[in-house]
Amino acid sequence: MKDLSYYKEIIKEKLSKKRFEHSLRVAETALEMAKSRGLDEEQVHLAALLHDYAKDLPSDELLRIGRKKGIILYKAEEVQPDLLHGPVGAWLLKQELEITDEAVLQAIRYHTTGHYPMTELDKIIYLADLLEPGRTYEGIASLRAICAENIDKGLLFAFDSTLRYVLERKMLIHPLTVEARNWLLLQLHDNFNDE
Ligand SMILES: [Fe+2]
Ligand SMILES: [Fe+2]
Repeated sequence: MKDLSYYKEIIKEKLSKKRFEHSLRVAETALEMAKSRGLDEEQVHLAALLHDYAKDLPSDELLRIGRKKGIILYKAEEVQPDLLHGPVGAWLLKQELEITDEAVLQAIRYHTTGHYPMTELDKIIYLADLLEPGRTYEGIASLRAICAENIDKGLLFAFDSTLRYVLERKMLIHPLTVEARNWLLLQLHDNFNDE
């Protein structure tokens, strides 16, 4: 693997200034969250830095690559192609930058929808994307506070907020978000019952 400054340059070229700066803040946030959780720092840094690799591609390009490479698995992705920037990004990173670390690719693939079972790396990338200091939306203060206490509870809060947002706007629900949310809820119940 090349060093991180190489990937940082690639992302700087590839993305708008705004999105590049978002990627840097996601990396800082993810590294902070990963501290004392025993995660591989290099994996966290790389996944965070590259997570939006395909985010600036236009919808028709996301759909074209998605269709051609068999990446589209859900109707929601056809209708809301932005949902493809994770899976298409992971595919492109493997082809174009020769990223082969499946743990890193997986965290990138599912950073918008979630999936199950989620690794600690998947959770950190998903949440750091929502929590980085440049983000402003209703509920972020609550999400920050819950995450500071318990990452899994924060993740559940994030899934619930996302589902609520999607429902209120009559958008299609991505089935993986439902699966991820149900899986996490059961995990939390199991942990609770074990206490
Ligand atoms: Fe993204
Ligand atoms: Fe992002």
